[in-house]
Amino acid sequence: MTRKLFVTTALPYANGPFHIGHIMEYIQADIWVRFQRMQQDEGKKREVHFVCADDAHGTPIMIAAEKEGITPQQFVAKVAATRQQYLDGFHIQFDNWHSTDSTENVELSQTIYRRLRDEAKLITTKTVERFYDPVKNMFLADRNIKGECPKCGAKDQYGDNCEVCGAAYEPTELKQPYSVLTGAAPILKPAEQYFFKLSDPRCAAFLQTWLNTPGRLQPEMVNKVSEWLGNNGEDLADWDISRDAPYFGIPIPDAPGKYFYVWLDAPVGYLASLKNYCDKKGITYDALLNDPAAEQVHFIGKDIVSFHLLFWPAMLKFSGHPIIDQLKVYVHGHLTVNGEKMSKSRGTGISPLRYLEVGMNPEWLRYYLASKLNAKVEDLDFSPDDFIAKVNSDLIGKYVNIASRCSGFISKIFDGKLSFANTSATDSATIDYAHYQKAAIASGEAIMAHYEAREFGKAIREIMLLTDLYNQFIDQKKPWELAKQTDSQSRMQLHAICSLAIEMFRILTLLLKPILPKLAEQVETMLNISPLLWSDLATCLPDGHRIHPYSHLMTRVDPKMLPALFEASSAPASSSASTKKVPSPQSSPSDTEEGVISIQDFAKVDLRIAKIVNCEHVEGSDKLLRLTLDAGEEGRLRNVFSGIKSAYQPEELIGKLTVMVANLAPRKMKFGISEGMVLAASAADEKTSPGIYILHPWPGAEPGMRVS
Ligand code: MSP
Ligand code: ZN
Repeated sequence: MTRKLFVTTALPYANGPFHIGHIMEYIQADIWVRFQRMQQDEGKKREVHFVCADDAHGTPIMIAAEKEGITPQQFVAKVAATRQQYLDGFHIQFDNWHSTDSTENVELSQTIYRRLRDEAKLITTKTVERFYDPVKNMFLADRNIKGECPKCGAKDQYGDNCEVCGAAYEPTELKQPYSVLTGAAPILKPAEQYFFKLSDPRCAAFLQTWLNTPGRLQPEMVNKVSEWLGNNGEDLADWDISRDAPYFGIPIPDAPGKYFYVWLDAPVGYLASLKNYCDKKGITYDALLNDPAAEQVHFIGKDIVSFHLLFWPAMLKFSGHPIIDQLKVYVHGHLTVNGEKMSKSRGTGISPLRYLEVGMNPEWLRYYLASKLNAKVEDLDFSPDDFIAKVNSDLIGKYVNIASRCSGFISKIFDGKLSFANTSATDSATIDYAHYQKAAIASGEAIMAHYEAREFGKAIREIMLLTDLYNQFIDQKKPWELAKQTDSQSRMQLHAICSLAIEMFRILTLLLKPILPKLAEQVETMLNISPLLWSDLATCLPDGHRIHPYSHLMTRVDPKMLPALFEASSAPASSSASTKKVPSPQSSPSDTEEGVISIQDFAKVDLRIAKIVNCEHVEGSDKLLRLTLDAGEEGRLRNVFSGIKSAYQPEELIGKLTVMVANLAPRKMKFGISEGMVLAASAADEKTSPGIYILHPWPGAEPGMRVS
């Protein structure tokens, strides 16, 4: 029976571009999906539908749009337009990308709600007290209320949790609450709200059985959910699913002025994206969802577990979705950078776009993350040194090296042809090979199980053991020595050894293909073979097969690239110079000459005259000055760190005009957020010629003027 896999990642909030945590989640899911797609032989065949969407609704997006003076729909469309370059850039291959603000989602959410209300009788109304902004005349979302933390007294904490001590609480517990929108003190107002009756004994009974079905959830998650359920589910509280207008969301049927809380329609967005995709592909959505061979698989992070392990399964179950019995939720930990947490609201950490822009290979990141991923709900850390070591010594030093050491001889001496036939001359090599092939098949079984179980780190360790074994073979046979002899016996041996090495390289490429799809494609072209499937593990390249000459596959990580991902702006002049040398993978096809850009490319850089209204030393930094810049933006001053401390005293700069890059993405640095970059000149070799010279316009220029 063909397994039909409906796979998703969490739907990202459409309030901003992707951060590296999103990319990590997509890479995890994409590897798993690509592994499944390589299973094509009878009995193991998989049909995979891998979809995602923007999570468009909710108050934060409504407010962000209002600030920009556009509609929420326009705001979401703007963010959605940024998605593809990241997905393409990191080789993440969704079959469909949709939005929760779509006709499919309205229809599906309302249908599910009606079934829960009319058939399952699990919807009820209650009157509750809610914070209300008396100036704006609206009920306030948790995130729009701030005040002092009731636990530790920290000021300016959100209505749901404290970023200082981590406490979670109700907005009504805050001391000195105020509305983020108007600054007014909120008042409590009774409001009738709609609830999903999670406290109903049917929900508890269902969840109990569901979560204890063996193999369904990760053990940590079984514990967590059991904790939430309490004794026989007595700790489950009803879930408030309604919000009052104005709200950017889906109207609740038969309840004027009420909208679904964003977390009700967000997971329905999984189904909406699937439906949208099915309609485009001519697949019958209902048939697929009701197919007993269909499985629904969600990849999500540890912060959104309650929505996926309590509410969503209950919603699916009681709105009559049989696929609930095949629902799997795979929870991952969070990516930290240099041991530090990233904050999704502040957009800190490595910028994935910058990673691509400085010309770093996306498959380095895929490989590195895969080597650290497992099936547990554990955080994983991106550490530059570890990254460089894993990529350079394992991926390049061990794996790529096999091809670069052996394929040249095949092309140069043997006209690109492989030979496995000359047994008499090469007895020892061929006999050995049977042993190596057995090793490959045995490892292949284990590696397959690791991929299936999302133990990618274990899969890579296993693949690297095999790689070590293959390298030992090559080291023992020393083809580079044999190549010096020109007698026919030596030539035959060289031919057989290099052919076997190519065959070994093919096996390793197959095993790494879910992680390194682009590289595998290059290898397939070079080896002149059709796209590798898992079943090709049991086959061997035929005698006489012709390969193409070795073409460059992958470079080493240059350690100099990594600082650009973090604190690049600590030396603005030199960092901008070093990024220029790296050809951008995004450059348009018309950029024929390396390093030449079009006028349109240049116009993307928003250069502005800025006045340095303040300048001060940065405690703890021997390079940086903190500049406060007026770039003619009404009511806004920019905070910019600049690596010019060696050249200027703060007093010299205050009151001066300079040139700044105004549309650089804000970057979090050790000392705070830098919201731009000032331009300065310096010599290519700062050691012999150390001066830094900040740019200064001719008299007459004014803050905010565009520089072009
Ligand atoms: N919109 C909701 C999900 C709705 S699903 C029906 C949401 N969006 S999010 O943009 O905040 O997060 C999307 C995913 O990114 C979540 O699975 C979240 O756990 C994941 N990550 C957020 N920060 C992360 C890291 N630092 N590391 C790894 N994943 C991270 O929540
Ligand atoms: Zn606190």
